[in-house]
Amino acid sequence: MESEKPSFEPFRLFSSSGSGFLEQSEPPLPPPPPCVEVLPSEILPSVKYAVEPVQLGGLTLLKGRVSTQEVFTLSNSDLVPGKYEGGLKLWEGSLDLVKALSSEVQNGHLSFTGKRVLELGCGHGLPGIFACLKGAAAIHFQDFNAEVLQCLTIPNVNSNVPSFQPPALQVTKCDAGTEIRFFAGNWREIHKLLPYVQNIEKDFNVSTGKSLDAQYDIILMAETVYSISALPHLYELIKKCITPSHGVVYMAAKKHYFGVGGGTRRFLSIVEKDGVLASSMVAEVADGSSNVREVWKLSFK
Ligand SMILES: C[S@@+](CC[C@H](N)C(=O)[O-])C[C@H]1O[C@@H](n2cnc3c(N)ncnc32)[C@H](O)[C@@H]1O
Repeated sequence: MESEKPSFEPFRLFSSSGSGFLEQSEPPLPPPPPCVEVLPSEILPSVKYAVEPVQLGGLTLLKGRVSTQEVFTLSNSDLVPGKYEGGLKLWEGSLDLVKALSSEVQNGHLSFTGKRVLELGCGHGLPGIFACLKGAAAIHFQDFNAEVLQCLTIPNVNSNVPSFQPPALQVTKCDAGTEIRFFAGNWREIHKLLPYVQNIEKDFNVSTGKSLDAQYDIILMAETVYSISALPHLYELIKKCITPSHGVVYMAAKKHYFGVGGGTRRFLSIVEKDGVLASSMVAEVADGSSNVREVWKLSFK
């Protein structure tokens, strides 16, 4: 039963000893769920949400716990590709990412104040919540599954950002003025829905020949680079979302996902080949208990 597991769950599916489907070649995926904006009022109060603290060095955030069985009628599955992509669990990388962001802010390498932030593959959304607490002007959360946003991400924002308006009012700004919005859908198509994205068709100004400079300043993502087939779509999405010249991406993930082939290095090889963004490692976590984990920063060359 989910409630009997420890509050933090390691990356079980991708262990080399696991019998998960990902040990085999990737099967064809079902059609993805439609891209939709999920309003804060669309939380599912019928799904049980139990809140618990997560200690992140000197910082404590709150996270919910919901049952995968209750939400997706899936028992004991970390994810089912194309149906449920693992957003209901808290993965190690998101904690690495919050800690790395916190250090970056402390040592003056990063500021969220007044920035437009996008968290891709958010699940619990703790990195995005951290950005919100540090003064972001906008934080947009994206997850593959609307249910994850409804049952977990939005309640987590409510728990950690007390000034976030009551969901019933459908207001998406907290007292501090941060615009908080939630988007469900796959990386191949979600750019059509995200507000701060350069859509050549939509934003290109024919008279001036210029496109709108209204993208995201900071993109955050944790444990999103496991599936080889999804990496090109994820990279293309990042290029559409990131503000040219000063936009940055912070990515936390395993160096390599055994049995699946994805990982930070595989993703970085796509980035490198394209030649637009430079990468630098921000943190390495090799605690001996699992695969090596890394946090990387991408910025324009
Ligand atoms: C392993 S979970 C990580 C969740 C969270 N970032 C964490 O670290 O706890 C992977 C996340 O990536 C997202 N994701 C995976 N494949 C996706 C795809 N093809 N399109 C959109 N989102 C996807 C899912 O929303 C899911 O929440």
